Amino acid sequence: MIDQITIGRIQDSAQITEVVSDFVTLRRRGVNFVGLCPFHDDRTPSFYVSPSKNICKCFACGEGGSPIHFVMKHEQLSYYEALKYLARKYNIEVIEKEFTDEEKQAQSDRESMFILNEYARDYFMKILHTHPEGKAVGLSYFRERGFRDDIVHKFQLGYNLEQRDAFSVEAQKAGYRRDFLLKTGLSAGGEQNQPLVDRFRGRVLFPVHTLSGKVVAFGGRILKKVENVGKYVNSPESEIYSKSNELYGIYFAKSAIVKQDKCYLVEGYTDVISMHQAGIENVVASSGTALTHGQIRMIHRFTENITVLYDGDQAGIKAALRGIDLLLEDGMNVKVVLLPEGEDPDSFAKKQNAENFYRYISDNEVDFIRFKTQLLLAEVGDDPIKRAGLISNVVESIALIPNAITRSVYIQDCSQLLKIQERVLIAEINKISRRNYDKKVEQKEKETASSKRQEAISETKKEPGRKFSQKNHFDKYELEILRYVVRYSNTPIYQKFEKQKRKEGKKVIEEDVLVEVGPAVTEFVRYDLERDNITFSNDLYRQIFEEAVAHVEDPGFDSGRFFLSHPDAEISNLASELMSDRYQLSKIHSKILGEEVGDKGSRLLEQNLLSSYVPRATTELKNFYVLQKIEELKKEMKSGNKDDYVTLITELKRLQEIKKVLSKELGERIVLKY
Ligand code: CTP
Ligand code: MN
Repeated sequence: MIDQITIGRIQDSAQITEVVSDFVTLRRRGVNFVGLCPFHDDRTPSFYVSPSKNICKCFACGEGGSPIHFVMKHEQLSYYEALKYLARKYNIEVIEKEFTDEEKQAQSDRESMFILNEYARDYFMKILHTHPEGKAVGLSYFRERGFRDDIVHKFQLGYNLEQRDAFSVEAQKAGYRRDFLLKTGLSAGGEQNQPLVDRFRGRVLFPVHTLSGKVVAFGGRILKKVENVGKYVNSPESEIYSKSNELYGIYFAKSAIVKQDKCYLVEGYTDVISMHQAGIENVVASSGTALTHGQIRMIHRFTENITVLYDGDQAGIKAALRGIDLLLEDGMNVKVVLLPEGEDPDSFAKKQNAENFYRYISDNEVDFIRFKTQLLLAEVGDDPIKRAGLISNVVESIALIPNAITRSVYIQDCSQLLKIQERVLIAEINKISRRNYDKKVEQKEKETASSKRQEAISETKKEPGRKFSQKNHFDKYELEILRYVVRYSNTPIYQKFEKQKRKEGKKVIEEDVLVEVGPAVTEFVRYDLERDNITFSNDLYRQIFEEAVAHVEDPGFDSGRFFLSHPDAEISNLASELMSDRYQLSKIHSKILGEEVGDKGSRLLEQNLLSSYVPRATTELKNFYVLQKIEELKKEMKSGNKDDYVTLITELKRLQEIKKVLSKELGERIVLKY
């Protein structure tokens, strides 16, 4: 648990642009920033970050919110974990109260797994640096490979002992639960309460970090060559680890990628580490598997330029070429560098300093399409059938490029290389594009069908009693009231100033003096609804309202900020909706001013009109209640028995009277129609 003062300090420090830029490259657009949305498959920037409101929002998928909620969503953290994350980022000391048993219980499995991984990483590091076996076997292995100590520390490399259960025993002694040891894959076995054994034994360990530096997995490399034993043992896929969505090194590379606007892609752990050691930090590894769309998206958030480094031996290259089509499809500018014969990035980096390495790259970097074409050309020679195969192969790649201008440059290029007329290539590309498009549409349809089903399932899975924004007829009216409550909770609905003159020495000073002040928005709404016995029918709205009411006496209460950073994601999401421009009274202010006014202008304007809008909103809700009641009564009178008729008709008359009053009020209050 974190105390309220510290939470406030964290909220004050966390700047949305700084928080988001750790994960997304932002570009300025007017007063805002935009970037590719990290929450959906975004190819043109839809993710807006507003420094003045300190919120972010994707206009395509709707995700976003306060810095805290961005972190919660992006890092899949709980509210408290997100606060701690921000506290670390802003060097704010967090004094945690002991967790109660209930709070412990509430910690999600994911969090527990991360905590355990962190413990394991520290344990493996400790063994590497302090245990005799760790030093003699693990640390000396790294030194023999030429890894400097600072690099071993930076990448948090470790070692686990040969003994079959050293780690499992120690971790359980430290209080970590069996089920999480098994779930993270750090331990194995243990059927029918048998003791657990370690997954990684006598191996050096490479922790795999997420974008934000949390440990999701380990790769354990064997030290000596042993027949029939894999060089690497990796953590299994789990709730927190999906191999195809992580990129080794991204945490250490991201700022360098942004700075250089370029990312190098290599194969393995050791390649990344050696390149860092040589001073080249904008590098990530796909960890020996084909690149996935998820990994590309992660890189794409920071840069569009990617250069793939290939080992000097040509064996693996053709297989790797296929993975690159995905990069093209995502609109990346892809280049390729072939290292000298017999070298991989790891060995090459050891022999170079950064300067030489960069020079080698810039001298040898080739555009991917050209590279592929030349590579295949060299292979097919004069065989006409093979040549035809080659052409369609290259054309397939070009067809994937989303940008038409880039595409046409490649067409020209390849037309020369392949000695084929451009229009032939173009016709071929169009054919393929159409086919790809059809495929995509089909795929999309399948996806929506399955996500609809998923939605239906998760809806039914929601715990009982959980409020979720179920739409009903009153929602529209209640939401309108709520909008004022969230934005202006403790702002008086009207204030009257008078010019007064005051003498100061000889000078006469004229100043605006507050002579009258109305109730605050929330106070007014409460009073106005209570006197007619009306409460919010939507549970979520009612909760928000009640929380606002709880703060009516609190002079420093900033309702917007409070709800935006609310621990309940549903509440903060709704708040960010209500705070966002979409709900600004654009029609009204354009009517008054005859033109669009800025953010500040419309907010000021809205504040000045609170005295008519807020009562109008509550009256609208009441009016709707009455209309509903009247409808119900009429139905009842048609179907009901005669005994009640008199009571019913009296009630109806009463309601119709009220309706008249309300309509009149509404009529009078409508200063501006909107
Ligand atoms: N890899 C893996 N499992 C394996 C083999 C490889 O996960 N059984 C992944 C690792 O991420 C590894 C990368 O593929 O880093 C590249 O494999 P390789 O070149 O064989 O390993 P290196 O890490 O380069 O090891 P070294 O240079 O020490 O041989
Ligand atoms: Mn290697």
